Formats: sequence, C-alpha cells, structure tokens
Amino acid sequence: MIRRRQLALKMKGGVAIIPTAPERLRNRDAHYPYRFDSYFYYLTGFKEPEAVLVIVAASAKAPARHILFCRTKDVEREIWDGFRYGPSQARETFCFDEAYAITLLDEMLPQLLTGQSVVYSAIGHDAAWDQRIAGWINTVRAQSRSGVTAPHEISDCRVLLDEMRLIKDAYELQTMRRAAEISAQAHCFAMKATKPGKFEYEIEAELLHVFRRHGAQAPAYTSIVAGGANACILHYIDNTAQLNSGDLLLIDAGCELDGYASDITRTFPINGRFTPAQKDIYELVLAAQQAAIDKARSGNTWNDPHQAALRVLAQGFVDFGLCQGSVDAVLESEDYRRFYMHRTGHWLGMDVHDVGEYKQLGEWRMLQAGMTLTVEPGCYIRPAENVPQHFWDIGVRIEDDVLITPEGHEILTVGVPKAVREIEELMQ
Ligand code: GLY
Ligand code: MN
Ligand code: MN
Repeated sequence: MIRRRQLALKMKGGVAIIPTAPERLRNRDAHYPYRFDSYFYYLTGFKEPEAVLVIVAASAKAPARHILFCRTKDVEREIWDGFRYGPSQARETFCFDEAYAITLLDEMLPQLLTGQSVVYSAIGHDAAWDQRIAGWINTVRAQSRSGVTAPHEISDCRVLLDEMRLIKDAYELQTMRRAAEISAQAHCFAMKATKPGKFEYEIEAELLHVFRRHGAQAPAYTSIVAGGANACILHYIDNTAQLNSGDLLLIDAGCELDGYASDITRTFPINGRFTPAQKDIYELVLAAQQAAIDKARSGNTWNDPHQAALRVLAQGFVDFGLCQGSVDAVLESEDYRRFYMHRTGHWLGMDVHDVGEYKQLGEWRMLQAGMTLTVEPGCYIRPAENVPQHFWDIGVRIEDDVLITPEGHEILTVGVPKAVREIEELMQ
C-alpha cells in the first residue's frame, strides 16, 4: 500500500493501469509455470493471474483510489485449480479501496478514464494490451459531444516504477538475503556432489533440489551447469555433457524466493584440484572480482567496478601472454574482449536483470545505499593459434550479489566459498 501511495504521489494526476502477467500455454493445454508480473506484484502482493491494478491519482475533487480487478470466487473452478480470493476478500487482505470482477474491466475503465488527462501504462510491453487501452480511450472520446474529455497523454509508468524498484526497502532486502542464502547452500551442495563421470544435469538436479527444499518457488533463470569447454559458451543451458576429471565446472544458478532473484556463479575443478593453468586464470578472475567489489560503494559510479575489474584482467592477460602490449593499450583497443566480452554486473531484484537506468543524462549513475547488483567478471579462452595451449577451453566466472550500504557494501552471497583453498577443502 505504501508503494501504491508513493506511485500515486509521483503521478501528475491521471490513472495508472498495471496488469499482471498472462498465463501462457506451453503445449496443447499444458501451461508454463505461472509467474506474476514484477511491477504488478511489487505494487499489490497479489499472486493470482487475470488481475489488473488501477490507481486513480488524487485530484482537486477526489482522493486517490486504489482499485483491483480480479477473478471472482468460483466454487467449481476452485475444486479444479485451487483457492481464489475474489474481489471482496482481496480488497480486505491487500488493502485496496475497491475491488471488482475482472469481467467488469471493459465497462469500468472508460468511466475511470473520463475527465482524466494522463494514462500511465507500460507502453509497448504487450501490443494487445496497448490496443485495449486505446479502445478504452476511444470509448471515452466517442462521448465528447456530451462534454466529456478523454485522456490525451500516455506516459510510461515504468519510468516512475523502475526508480522505486532500484532502491530496495527492508522487506525486499530480507527476502533477497534469504534467496541469496538458499542459493549459496545450493552451490555448496552442488560442489560437494560433483565427481568425474557424472553428468551436468545431475548437478543441476542437486541445485533445484536445494532451492525447492528451502521453499524457493523456482530458479530465477535457467541454470548454467557447464563442464570444460562448455563454460566458454556464455549462455550454455543444455546441461547434458559428462564431467571430465581435469576440467573445471562453471555453475551459474540462483533461486527466486517470493518474487526476488539471486544470481551466483562459481567455478571449480571437477576432481577437486585446480591445475596450475586453471589456478592462474581462476585467481586472476578472483582478483578482478575483488577489485570490482572494492569499488561497489556509494560515491562511485555504476561503471567504476567494471573499470576496476577490466584493469586487473587486462594486466593478467598481458602477464599470461594472452594479450600483447601495455595494459593501457589493451584497454584502449579492447583487445581483452577476446577473453572477456560481457559487463561486470547488472542490477538485481525481482528480475534477475533488474530494472533501473545505468546512465542518467548520459553519465554513469552514482551508486547509492539500497541498490543491489551483481559483480561477475569472467574469462573465457577458446582455442586459437595465438593463445598458449595450456589455457585452451578454460572458462571461469565468479559472481556474487552485493548490496550498497551507507558504510560501503554487504555481500549477500558469502555463504559459498570462492578462495582456491576453501574450494579444494570443501570438495575433499
Ligand atoms: N545468470 C544471468 C547473469 O549472470 O547475468
Ligand atoms: Mn548475473
Ligand atoms: Mn549469473
């Protein structure tokens, strides 16, 4: 309710219309697991599909109205699909001013839009939804001869909501800490379960098992379990290969808990011992990550951690004969991109790649307390003529979730080790 009030205060009058996500068919009559829309859930806490939030901002004539449209109670459907709140129970439980059957949306929206100037909506997110909004506005406009005025401005509500979501409140942080903790446990469990001869999907199964066992509803994204050369495929999700002694295993996996994501990557030797070449690359990436984490504090910009990681990596690439010339030249020419081709992190929240601008007025934005982000440098070495052979097919990424605090930062994912010695000990 506080978030809905905050949004209503940021609106320049008008009406915000925010639907939850549709249910989606997977094949024939089987659905994908349902996941609510992040914006809708952020503002309502309501998890059922077929629901729409309407916020009418306060005007000189009337106070603000927070309205939910949702499915009605239906004894027959509830026998098959389970409990649904229905409007009156939903109104009470989730503190709306009014709640109505979703079937009344087409009838009521034109009334709610009459005399309003602005409609706030996530324009372009769903073409069918854009059309419906246009239809409601046209219905109002068709009555203009009777003296009513229709909205003449559509504004993207995400501009307001993204800035709100970027700074996490205490409840969100509590959920994110727990999500990070569960994911850290899953990674520890997976490390201990890894043995040469097992298959990548067996390790994926261990991760999913720990997620669910602790109440997380789902993985926040498809888990990457990539043995050996597969780690050099950035979005490898087949997870079908057998694990070889002497290779590394890269796992990028995190659970979603009550609508909030976690996102951890660890890379470790399948037989429990790093080879010298693996250790060289691993410790380089770890040093880059530490340099980046050191920069994750308010007063620095979003880009400072990335720049810090790049400098450490570029120095390492020169030292190991992967890149030639000076560190500055490697940074300038971006020659490092042959081995490190992604950025060092992203915002983290309800969505794994969470909302929020990275630049403001053309400048990297400042980090500030309450922001949550990942720090995830990597190094991916594909076989190539000018690359020393002992580094071929090594892929390493180390990823943690970090909260910016007033004092500096808090690492949410400390529960899973990353020092070489700690990893080797855990795997014994
Ligand atoms: N797992 C997605 C990412 O690391 O960005
Ligand atoms: Mn990530
Ligand atoms: Mn990740």
